[in-house]
Amino acid sequence: MRIIAISSGKGGVGKTNVVANLAVSLEQKGLHTLVFDADLGLANIDVLLGLSPKRDIRHVFAGECRLRDIMVRTPYGFEVIPASSGVSEFTRLEPEEKLLLKEQFEEVTQGVDFFLFDLGAGISDNILFFNLVAQERIVITVPEPTAMADAYALIKLLYTRYGVKRLYLLANLVKDSREGKQVYQQIVQVAERFLGPVGLTYLGAIREDTSVPRAVKRQEPFVAAFPESVAAQDLLRVRDKLLKLEPEGEGGLEALWSQNLHKFS
Ligand SMILES: Nc1ncnc2c1ncn2[C@@H]1O[C@H](COP(=O)(O)OP(=O)(O)O)[C@@H](O)[C@H]1O
Ligand SMILES: [Mg+2]
Repeated sequence: MRIIAISSGKGGVGKTNVVANLAVSLEQKGLHTLVFDADLGLANIDVLLGLSPKRDIRHVFAGECRLRDIMVRTPYGFEVIPASSGVSEFTRLEPEEKLLLKEQFEEVTQGVDFFLFDLGAGISDNILFFNLVAQERIVITVPEPTAMADAYALIKLLYTRYGVKRLYLLANLVKDSREGKQVYQQIVQVAERFLGPVGLTYLGAIREDTSVPRAVKRQEPFVAAFPESVAAQDLLRVRDKLLKLEPEGEGGLEALWSQNLHKFS
């Protein structure tokens, strides 16, 4: 199983859309995918997909049910662990809550090929934590200087404070592939100059495309609603690049969690 965290420095750069569409496109390849809506407190992957989960992560933390009871299967084959909307108490999980997630993640990831964490924006405790317990991380940015500066700040913190070296950069809302590469080059140049060998790999770019907001309004992923659109073509290229990248061999939820839990207490 590959565990991949998707986050960004700045909000609204397309994380949830990328996660949902990546999940659809992985299922199209026969790779079973589970999405954890880890933007705890500001959930919206359920809205994006037109799901109406009756229960969410709050009920699990309250001990009323288990993660497997709240999981929702989407019409696209992948499954979602819903978070809860508008509850700000989850910006920093308690150690017991992290342990509970670890135990129950093992239960719900049987038969899962890709486990994606849809994180929020910024550098809050939860975002750093889930970035650490993932094996691979996608940082998304758009070509604006503010978003790029925030992406750099996130990469810098993960690298300097936690020694994280396996990061992929995805440029969204670009006008063409050249602009995407420029975004990557600018960030990697600054990072290597000021931080050192950060291990930042370019995952590709997704062009700005009106099919995306149109699909959002229909509450459908754009790769399913508009498979011919440029955004869908770009997304499939990103998926194929991701499939070519080899995850590091080190092992499993148990190991990742025990290595990282103590860094957050
Ligand atoms: N490639 C794109 N082209 C056009 N609009 C996009 C694109 N990617 C994202 N958007 C729009 O940006 C908004 C934010 O996307 P979302 O996935 O919710 O971001 P985040 O999860 O980072 O907050 C959405 O309304 C979506 O329609
Ligand atoms: Mg989001």
